[in-house]
Order: sequence, then C-alpha cells, then structure tokens
Amino acid sequence: MKKRLGPTDRLYPMPCPLVLGGTMDEHDALAVAWVGIGAGTPPSVAMALRRSRHTLALIREHGEFTVNIPCAADAAVVDYFGITSGAQRDKFADTGWTVEPAAVVAAPIIAECPYNLECRVTHEIEIGEYIHVIGEVVESHAEESVLDAGGEKVDVTALDPLIYIAGSREYRRLGGKVAEAYSAGRVFRHEPSER
Ligand SMILES: Cc1cc2nc3c(=O)[nH]c(=O)nc-3n(C[C@H](O)[C@H](O)[C@H](O)COP(=O)(O)O)c2cc1C
Repeated sequence: MKKRLGPTDRLYPMPCPLVLGGTMDEHDALAVAWVGIGAGTPPSVAMALRRSRHTLALIREHGEFTVNIPCAADAAVVDYFGITSGAQRDKFADTGWTVEPAAVVAAPIIAECPYNLECRVTHEIEIGEYIHVIGEVVESHAEESVLDAGGEKVDVTALDPLIYIAGSREYRRLGGKVAEAYSAGRVFRHEPSER
C-alpha cells in the first residue's frame, strides 16, 4: 500500500556540487543540490538557483560558471558553502579552500574538488522564486588520482562524490555497484518468436 505525499521537490539521491561564479579576482560559490545534466548534445548542466543567491548575480554578470564535485569527506566544507552567503563572508578564506584558473572560461575551478565542469550560460528560465540556469559544458577536469586505469574516465569509487538526501537533510556517499548499465536489462529482452 502506498501513501500519497503530495507535490514535492524531493528526488533521491541528489548530487551536491559547489557551483562557482565570477573570476579569479572576484568569485563566490554555493552548494547546489537541484542540479543535473540538461542535455547530452551539446553537453549541458541545468540547475535551479534562488533569485537571492549572491553567486547567481556573479553567474549572470559573467555568463559563466563552474561545477565542482566535492568528495564525501568534505561534507562540512560543502555545508558551510550552503549555509553562508558570500554577500556576508569570504567562504574561501573561512574554509581555506582555493581556486585555480579554468581552461576556457574566466570562472575558476575549485582546487580541492577533484572533478570540475566549465560551463557557459545558454538559457535562463524563471520558475517562481527560482532561476533555472542552463549552461553548456565547454571543458572538464579530473585529478589523475580519480581516473581509471585507462586514464580517460573517472573512477567513481576513487572520486567518492558527496550525495545529498533531501527530507532527512543528510549527506551520504555512494554504495557499491549493483549491475552493468545498458546490458543488465537484456535478460527481459524476448526475441520475437519465429513464424
Ligand atoms: C545541501 C544544500 C543544497 C542546496 N541546494 C541549493 C540549490 O539547489 N539551489 C539554491 O539556490 N540554493 C541551494 N542551497 C542553498 C545555498 O547553497 C545557500 O543559500 C548559500 O549560502 C548561497 O550562497 P551565496 O549567497 O554566497 O551564493 C543549498 C544548500 C545546502 C546546504
């Protein structure tokens, strides 16, 4: 028996990157759980930011942002970026986290986050109190320590990305692999019977 819970903004789980706007000289970042891939071609990120966010003003001013994936071990730092506004505090000075130049956009990437996407804003959509920002991913970076043996793909076990659970408001890490994607479902594929 299922219970109706009404309209909700909860999906389980959610990623929780730090999204940064601005330049090497002036930047801010915030924790964003309402974020995902908006398209594959061109590769695009979509996220919902409240109008009041200081980082949003910087993203709008420069038309660029970076998405920085933190490790689960850094939950406290990410939480600080999510409970403090850059309008009041310098979150980088407070946490000791640092930025380094990106390759294509002027918005820097966060050095302590091992996986980073560089994005250029392509669309903005207003939804209530939120601005839905969509950006094309123009470059990506990964620490060598989180790459697989071939050196081309991210090894998600090594990355150990931070996960956010809405509702219970907790941070978690990924569990183990359960199946091979794009092939596990083949057990249900019945070949058409011969006539
Ligand atoms: C786990 C977590 C997830 C969050 N997700 C979002 C989000 O998706 N969109 C948003 O606008 N704010 C989100 N926030 C709130 C902002 O990160 C927070 O208001 C931050 O202090 C804004 O910083 P800024 O004013 O320096 O940009 C989240 C906060 C936390 C702790």
